[in-house]
Amino acid sequence: MKFSPAFIDEVKARNPIEEVVSSYVTLKRAGSNLTGLCPFHSEKTPSFSVSAPNGFFYCFGCGTGGDVISFIMKIENLDYPSAIGFLAKRAGLPLPENPDEKEQGVRRARVLAMNRLAAKYFHSKLMEGGAGLEYLTEKRKLPMPLIKHFGLGFAPDSFGELTNLLTRNGYSAEEMKTAFLCGISPKTGRPYDYFRNRVIFPIIDNAGEVIAFGGRVMDDSLPKYLNTSDTPAFRKSRNLFALNFAKKHCAETMILCEGYMDVIALHGAGFENAVATLGTALTSEQARIMKRYTKKVIISYDADEAGQRAADRAFGILGEVGLETRLLRVEGAKDPDEYIKKFGADRFRKLLEGSRTRFDFQLEGVLKRNNVAENEGKLKAAAEITSIIAAYPSEVERDVYIGQASAALSVPKESLKNDVNRAKISREKRETKEAEEKIMRETRGFGDRINPEKVTFHRGARAEEILLGILLLYPEMLSVLEKEGSVLTPDDLVTEFNRRVLKKLFELKEEDAAISLSLFAEDFSPGEMGKIAKYQIDREKLTDNGEDVVLDCVRIIKEEKAKKTTSLEDLLASKRQKKQDKETTSKG
Ligand code: GTP
Ligand code: MN
Repeated sequence: MKFSPAFIDEVKARNPIEEVVSSYVTLKRAGSNLTGLCPFHSEKTPSFSVSAPNGFFYCFGCGTGGDVISFIMKIENLDYPSAIGFLAKRAGLPLPENPDEKEQGVRRARVLAMNRLAAKYFHSKLMEGGAGLEYLTEKRKLPMPLIKHFGLGFAPDSFGELTNLLTRNGYSAEEMKTAFLCGISPKTGRPYDYFRNRVIFPIIDNAGEVIAFGGRVMDDSLPKYLNTSDTPAFRKSRNLFALNFAKKHCAETMILCEGYMDVIALHGAGFENAVATLGTALTSEQARIMKRYTKKVIISYDADEAGQRAADRAFGILGEVGLETRLLRVEGAKDPDEYIKKFGADRFRKLLEGSRTRFDFQLEGVLKRNNVAENEGKLKAAAEITSIIAAYPSEVERDVYIGQASAALSVPKESLKNDVNRAKISREKRETKEAEEKIMRETRGFGDRINPEKVTFHRGARAEEILLGILLLYPEMLSVLEKEGSVLTPDDLVTEFNRRVLKKLFELKEEDAAISLSLFAEDFSPGEMGKIAKYQIDREKLTDNGEDVVLDCVRIIKEEKAKKTTSLEDLLASKRQKKQDKETTSKG
């Protein structure tokens, strides 16, 4: 969704930066600015500052900066339009009607209508009997009520049945392709059914709409699953399989599985709080969604090594959004589905009750790796567990785990605690040092990630930074760059990043938008926003931001640009010369 500059201004006006930042960071007044501990890197002394009158923030430690919108993008992990939506909501501002959105709404509605037709078709094909039904009832042992509950289906081995049905209902090949219900033959240009000879798992959202499908082969052929990719009605990273059912049963705990079949088996066995990701690794968006519905997640992945590695990753992601997390391990079966079929629901319930924390597994690993019966092994085990515990951010957790580890290793709790504190301090020091070194490298111009050309064209890049800083503060100075004798266009700049910034400034002037940092956030990443904010901050402290400085910058930039072009031309010319020399010598 594209918002008008006027709306963005309104959103900003109703969300003073100091107020918004204060709900994440404790700010103290320091002169005209407010300072606090940076929420984006770990630090002990505050290097994060907020300038309320100018409406922006900047961290001198890690280089992140920008306006209130960039702040929300970064801290809430949102894209530009979502951050504006977030702030509008925070201020109780209704979102404007948007023609783009209306059109998008229509497209989405048509995809959903096609999906509904397709789901009915797949289900009725399954119910006719045959290979699909046989597979689900015989091979996978699914009872009929469960098949109906999940609306499972079957796509027959036909290239045109569904495509024809959708065509008769007024949908174009283009639309069917967008919905991932058909492919288009490159030879004939004609549409053909996407899902063929597969059992079908419809994905249903919380509003009861069919948003996507997964289709599984009935033998060992590959690919095992075909899944709907992203469509106007579906983002796989933002949905979970069976959440539409699980949401009523998961206020306390939710079970997270890898496969559709695991979830169906669990629901069939009475564990209706089970969900699965949709053929991808868990995303933080999915974790945030889970957080809205439950307090605790029990990860119940496949028993193989890949499953356990995925579980370790999931622990991290779920922990970050503040969910309590447990892991259970199925033993004697490859996944929860097989486990339930082999051992029954009661045994699975025992597994759930015995699910353990990530720390339990980490401690178990340390005890396995080291022989703690001997002093040497015990010391190594203590060192390993110390650094594992030090990495937990919560003090309560650290205390609990110190107790647990001291009992397991039979070392005194106090000494383990001292070690953990020491490890934690050196860990923090290391992190701060890394952040500082990074910023030092950047300010020196070495390895400037945002503007890598600065190292090579230092003089030109410096002049550009000064010029852009002034233009950001005093946009009316842009007209100087259009005056005879001092004309400067983005193409005249020496470095690509600064060229983009100047181009954006001209565009905003063209659109008659009041120039503010927030209008940059749409085209520039939070890291780049930090750099742009820094240009502005560097000039703001100074008093000589007049036309003469602008003219000086223009002159330097042009000189450097000429040098750059000449040196490039020289290089090319000398290459040509060499080539010619070679040819003459070889001829002669
Ligand atoms: P069964 O082998 O029938 O028990 O299937 P499962 O659902 O347990 O699948 P598995 O554990 O092999 O994979 C877990 C999930 O990963 C599946 O449910 C799918 O969402 C996804 N997946 C598996 N294979 C593929 C594939 O070939 N392509 C895609 N896109 N996703 C897959
Ligand atoms: Mn499986």
